[in-house]
Amino acid sequence: MDEIIRKIGLYGIVPVVKIERPEDTLPLAKAFCNAGLPVMEVTYRTNNAEGAIREITTEMPDMLVGAGTVIEPSQVESAVKAGAKFIVTPNLDVEVVKTCQRHNIPVLPGCATPTDIAAAMSLGLNVVKFFPAEASGGLSMIKAMNGPFGMMKFLPTGGINLDNMLDYLKNDKILAVGGTFMANEGFVRDGQFDRVEMMTHLAMFKMYGFSLAHIGINCGDEQEAKKWAGLMASMFGFDCDEGTGAIFTGCFEFMKEPYLGERGHIAIATNFLERAMFRFETMGFKFDRSQDKFNDRGDLRAAYFADEFFGFAVHLIQK
Ligand code: 3PG
Repeated sequence: MDEIIRKIGLYGIVPVVKIERPEDTLPLAKAFCNAGLPVMEVTYRTNNAEGAIREITTEMPDMLVGAGTVIEPSQVESAVKAGAKFIVTPNLDVEVVKTCQRHNIPVLPGCATPTDIAAAMSLGLNVVKFFPAEASGGLSMIKAMNGPFGMMKFLPTGGINLDNMLDYLKNDKILAVGGTFMANEGFVRDGQFDRVEMMTHLAMFKMYGFSLAHIGINCGDEQEAKKWAGLMASMFGFDCDEGTGAIFTGCFEFMKEPYLGERGHIAIATNFLERAMFRFETMGFKFDRSQDKFNDRGDLRAAYFADEFFGFAVHLIQK
């Protein structure tokens, strides 16, 4: 998969913006970045799109900025010249797609029907925008099209919001979701960039869905593990589940011999392990990949941070 498309998938959410006033460009881009989402689609719905893309590319080179609402080959030329990293279109226009391909810039054309998808495939594409997502049947339409077009991945936009984004993201045909819900026209018009940042923050953490899964306590031996597990179980009425190396009770995992972490380990569950790891790696955290755990199908299920936190090893696990 193209590196840019892969990154869009790892970010998981693509804010779509319409920038009327040039002076709104950088505050808007910074609001997404501050919330940990350095990706945005600047739409060609105003004359300011090319200038905005150029300004972001120059001033914030780490931002993955794309051009949206691209409906003519000349807009592809303009976006490429300004430094856009990807192109999103509302419809499937063969000339627009071919112009993108000539420039070697990833393109996600808008598709809403099997006919559109077949046309995208014949142009060599395996990821498209699904637009307008909710009005075109939403997730059930994507599921229905999965039979004949199982190889296709989608970026749904159009009607995506905080309430329905997770249903889309949990489907493995979804590359990422996009929309204006983090930076709607009202927020931008009124210069409420703090609200943009807050909405983006909410969307990101809704996607990751971090929650405490368990706390692993290092015991000296099996006897000690049994003692503490038994006490917790009897105090709080938890069930005990004894495995070879540990006893689980409530949110505790009593290790029968010292395991990772000076004191023990903490497991944080997430809806999307690889997206969460990408976020933390982008923030500068490192993972000890020698501790990765996989399921029978070879999917990554758990990953430990390389460093300990307050005497505990911490790992992320896939919900
Ligand atoms: C787009 O161009 O992707 C859509 O207009 C975004 O739709 P939304 O405003 O419903 O998020």
